[in-house]
Amino acid sequence: MRKTTLLLALCLLAGCTTKSPMDQYIDGLMSKLTLEQKIGQLNLHSAPGFISAERVMEEDENAQLLHKGLLGGIYGGPNPNLLRQYQEIALQSGAGIPLIFGMDVIHGHETVFPIPLGLSTSWNMELIEKTARMAAMEASACGINWVYSPMVDICRDARWGRIAEGGGEDPYLGGEIAKAMVYGYQGRDQQYAADEVMACVKHYALYGGAESGRDYNSVFLSRQEALNGYMNPYKAAAEAGAGSYMSSFNEFEGIPATMNAWLMDDVLRKAWGFDGFIVSDATAIAEEIAHGIGDLQEVSARSLQAGLDMDMNSDGFVGTLMQSVREGRVKEADIDRACRRILEAKYKLGLFEDPYRYFSEEKFATEVFTAENRAFAREVAHECQVLLKNDGVLPLSKGKRAAVVGPLAQDTGAMAGTWSQSSHNGESVTLWQGIQEVTPASYAQGSWLLRDATLEDGVRYGLIRMFAPHIPITPVHTVPQSTLLAEAVTKARAADVVIACVGEIAGMNGEGASRSDITLPDTQVELLKALKATGKPIVVVLVTGRPLALTEVEPYANAILNVWSPGIEGGHAVADVLFGDVNPSAKLTTSFPRSVGQLPLYYNHKNTGRPHPDYEPYRKFTSCYTDELNGPLYPFGFGLSYTAFSYSEPSLSAAEMAINGSVTASVTVTNTGSCDGYEIVQLYIHDKYSTSTRPVKELKGFQKVFIPAGESVNVKFQLTAEELSYYNHELEWVCEPGDFEIMIGPNSRDIQSVQLTVR
Ligand code: BGC
Repeated sequence: MRKTTLLLALCLLAGCTTKSPMDQYIDGLMSKLTLEQKIGQLNLHSAPGFISAERVMEEDENAQLLHKGLLGGIYGGPNPNLLRQYQEIALQSGAGIPLIFGMDVIHGHETVFPIPLGLSTSWNMELIEKTARMAAMEASACGINWVYSPMVDICRDARWGRIAEGGGEDPYLGGEIAKAMVYGYQGRDQQYAADEVMACVKHYALYGGAESGRDYNSVFLSRQEALNGYMNPYKAAAEAGAGSYMSSFNEFEGIPATMNAWLMDDVLRKAWGFDGFIVSDATAIAEEIAHGIGDLQEVSARSLQAGLDMDMNSDGFVGTLMQSVREGRVKEADIDRACRRILEAKYKLGLFEDPYRYFSEEKFATEVFTAENRAFAREVAHECQVLLKNDGVLPLSKGKRAAVVGPLAQDTGAMAGTWSQSSHNGESVTLWQGIQEVTPASYAQGSWLLRDATLEDGVRYGLIRMFAPHIPITPVHTVPQSTLLAEAVTKARAADVVIACVGEIAGMNGEGASRSDITLPDTQVELLKALKATGKPIVVVLVTGRPLALTEVEPYANAILNVWSPGIEGGHAVADVLFGDVNPSAKLTTSFPRSVGQLPLYYNHKNTGRPHPDYEPYRKFTSCYTDELNGPLYPFGFGLSYTAFSYSEPSLSAAEMAINGSVTASVTVTNTGSCDGYEIVQLYIHDKYSTSTRPVKELKGFQKVFIPAGESVNVKFQLTAEELSYYNHELEWVCEPGDFEIMIGPNSRDIQSVQLTVR
């Protein structure tokens, strides 16, 4: 260690710098590249057909670009043969630089896990890391070395369809998830073994703050609120060593994120030390024209100068940067900088040593979508089901006759969820399949998904019509709603229990699928109403990609089990919970509103000068509604179990803490019920007086603990200035001495607190 420091000092004195082998290699390579070839490295295209192409065609635009050395990477081609052929062309043409291959591997690759919002409700970071690890193993066997995940956009408005793709509304939990996923994809040692892939953290930044939840919409946040409420997950991912970021579609402070130098250079690179490359989102550079910034040449130049390195699908860099250099609008040094960052990523991935290291027919045959991987997907889905209501009807006894009804009961796509491109999506175990395997059961569709047939066709087949028009589609609403209802009622009458599978199919959430009304569609409510009239117990299995406003649904249900889109083994995993083989333990990572008018709704809101308690009715001149409570129907952190837990009062190891010291907060949690279970114990803080206003509570710690029936566990959290700090008005990260409330409980609502003074 000492020797290295001495060597470095001597070297600096002598005016020389020691270059890493990577720098030396890239210096050498770049010295041989023409300006055009360097610009080519900044260009990223999607694979043709996106979903279905098998081989590179003569007229293939990517192949033509590759021959000219004008493509640095390709994404979205799940077919390894196709990717291999592209790599061959890349190596034979231009400077022979290997391509990087990206893909939206979002919640598993071939083996599909619950959607990210569902995964987050496990609050199990080890489990989440393992899902990313398995996704990396599977994707890398297919030639993919770069995944467009984790998606870490914080979202407070469930109208936004892409809430399904992220980890919910809390920046602390989001940060923990971001780290777990980056470690899972890349490994912890930054060495990129051949089955580790580069993460691409998205969407940078603040995309989840889209005004009124409408996709791609503008974001209006102060820098302070952005940093405190939204940006911790992006920061955590940088600290975990994420290799790349994707810029987002939205604008921030009047500047599109894709050309926002404050976001990319000042914060991500300078303040957080990120040294990888940033790719635009798909066509985001070209979209800056519609944002009203300038023509393609202008927006391309500004994006590059603001710190963007790679252009996804706009052809802005490859189409205009040469001209901009000729005109003196852009410096060659700007292009060199971006090109170097992309070459560094390829170097780190080992592509210069072996451009084919991520293709493995053997691994593809033996390690992808195996029975073992599927078994793991089932285990994962066990931990991602949130029990929202249970009057005691659950768990069900095996052997009871179940009527499985509802438009989601046989939908494989709804199991796989949004952003799953697995070739095995169609093999997803449906709820109907899973339940039939454990108990005598009958099935009825029960209702249309949506009242409007055109809309239903759109959400079911919109993506297929766009990307794979050759896939046949089935017409909707071929049977009248009244016939479906009548059949369901008959089946319900003949059964002991009704399992109603309702909610959203995958096309109703995700990208470009915002909703203004997030209640259960009225056709499905009609079904629940008809079922209730039979007098049979009703278990609602809710499949959804977003929080729904369930106020109308709740009275019809004896139990509500929210299973999200639970993945390839969904039907099995849900049956395991319904019939008591698994005790549910998941807890919400988003608030579930009472009504859409409450949105945006999030637990870590600020107080006004006239605060109004969450569950008290209207009172004039306070911050409330005349016609709605402030509080959510189900709060952040909420989720039931088949057992019950009681919490002691929390205590602190000391009532005072020096600013550079630490204290331990502890609580005893007892399993007072009759079965073993996991409990997610949550710690929140509230800074009582500070130079800027602070949220009423902020999550700063959680532990998922197993507690056998009748036993107690003492749970401890260590607190330091770090957990009590925030970005002040000057955007400095500070812990301000004074009083803090430390709150512990089973969710963000039912907490007990103790006071801590920081000196
Ligand atoms: C989405 C990204 C995705 C990209 C590439 C965009 O439309 O916003 O999340 O990674 O497409 O498929």
